[in-house]
Amino acid sequence: MYDILKYGAGALRGKAEPVEAVDAEIKKILDEMAETMRTANGVGLAAPQIGIPKRMFVFFAEEDVIKKVVNPVVTVLTDEIIEFEEGCLSVPGVYKNVKRPGKIKLAYQDEKGQDREMILEGFRAVVAQHEYDHLEGILFVDKISPVAKRMIQKKLSRIKKGLEG
Ligand code: NI
Repeated sequence: MYDILKYGAGALRGKAEPVEAVDAEIKKILDEMAETMRTANGVGLAAPQIGIPKRMFVFFAEEDVIKKVVNPVVTVLTDEIIEFEEGCLSVPGVYKNVKRPGKIKLAYQDEKGQDREMILEGFRAVVAQHEYDHLEGILFVDKISPVAKRMIQKKLSRIKKGLEG
């Protein structure tokens, strides 16, 4: 089980490196990430959130199906923009609306190193894009309106100081 880094941690802001080979160590990290996410009641968790700067994440692709995603590539398949209230295990207690494309193709390697792809729509597309952003050092609070950002400024600075979460 891993500790989840919180807003303000430098490791959340780096660009993650590709996974060279999906070996036993990577598989073990993915298993523990899935367990960490489940325990924290999250719907997704990216490796940088546990301080591992690798391009991989886990997420609930369906109600009770966790997918382990390595070296993902996201292709947007629609002009339609949807808006969901998002949260993040690294930004506890903050929930704000974010606009994102409503349909994507997610190409990746699974935990066996097999090439896979899936089409995701609506909420599941949102989750995958949110997790992908973590690999680029981007957090959902970077994508909210300036007004919404001002509303949570105090909360963010408390999380940063370790006073919340
Ligand atoms: Ni997140």
